[in-house]
Amino acid sequence: MLGCGTVGAQVVRLLTEQADDLTARIGGSVELVGVAVRRPHRHPDVPAHLITTDAAALVESDVDVVVEVIGGIEPARTLLTTALRAGKSVVTANKALLAEHAAELFAAAGSSGADLYFEAAVAGAIPLLRPLRESLAGDRINRVMGIVNGTTNYILSAMDSSGAGYAETLDEASRLGYAEADPTADVDGYDAASKAAILASIAFHTRVTAADVYREGITSVTPADIAAARTLGRTIKLLAICERVDTDGVESVAVRVHPAMIPRSHPLAGVGGAFNAVFVEADAAGSLMFYGQGAGGAPTASAVLGDLVAVSRNRLVGGRGPGESAYAALPIRPISQV
Ligand code: HSE
Repeated sequence: MLGCGTVGAQVVRLLTEQADDLTARIGGSVELVGVAVRRPHRHPDVPAHLITTDAAALVESDVDVVVEVIGGIEPARTLLTTALRAGKSVVTANKALLAEHAAELFAAAGSSGADLYFEAAVAGAIPLLRPLRESLAGDRINRVMGIVNGTTNYILSAMDSSGAGYAETLDEASRLGYAEADPTADVDGYDAASKAAILASIAFHTRVTAADVYREGITSVTPADIAAARTLGRTIKLLAICERVDTDGVESVAVRVHPAMIPRSHPLAGVGGAFNAVFVEADAAGSLMFYGQGAGGAPTASAVLGDLVAVSRNRLVGGRGPGESAYAALPIRPISQV
């Protein structure tokens, strides 16, 4: 395992507490053989013999699966491409990395036949990527839209319900383990934009990067804006919207993240705290709604563990999960528009 912050600590806990159950479910045991961290003294709950500061050596050691919960581009990018090229399966929660370098990671995985799973990168505990990639793979998705950042939803919900101030609520979101290490990624919309890029890539079978996403955060939303929305029977939410657009017969995918006023009667208006909710509209399936805890250590670790079980099962039967063709099969152009 690479990294052991809010999510990583919960992955270690669940792996330890559920070791016997996981062995039974997988049909073979998963052994945690190392945890790479920057500051060893900060992890008293992790057995000392597992801790190392040499992440590269851990990746190159005799391991089958690398779980990455460091976040950010480097060193995660180098470590994961090294692991994938060497045939080691990767489970990652790293949305920024996937939103910028998915093509490179999939190429590395494809070169060796390794698995690359990243359910935890979008919407925490909510099973969302797998349904889009697998359950709805035979349908035609037209729109994916919702709340995909827990921190900003926590802040906007508190400002709306109790008139709480922006700064104090952001501090609270950080204390509860919802915010990124650098919370500007949350409040400026970068985190949601990365997630939107991943969702659009999978839903529309194309390649959308964070740079293709129109982005506005919540830093300019004032208590007066929220009060004004209230008088109109509305509330303000940070939305990620990915939709198929037809311009004179040419299809493209528009992806955007920005605060929006929504009617208080809309189901998204009732999504409070760090919860996320995402609507998916597809030709045959119609409308679907996914809802649950989108941030926090344990919920995100749940998604990491689910992926770990999946890649472990794949390895045991000598198979693998979907490669890049499951994502970037169609050349639909991303466009940035509001
Ligand atoms: N900082 C992220 C959020 C964590 O608030 O949603 C989950 O990706």
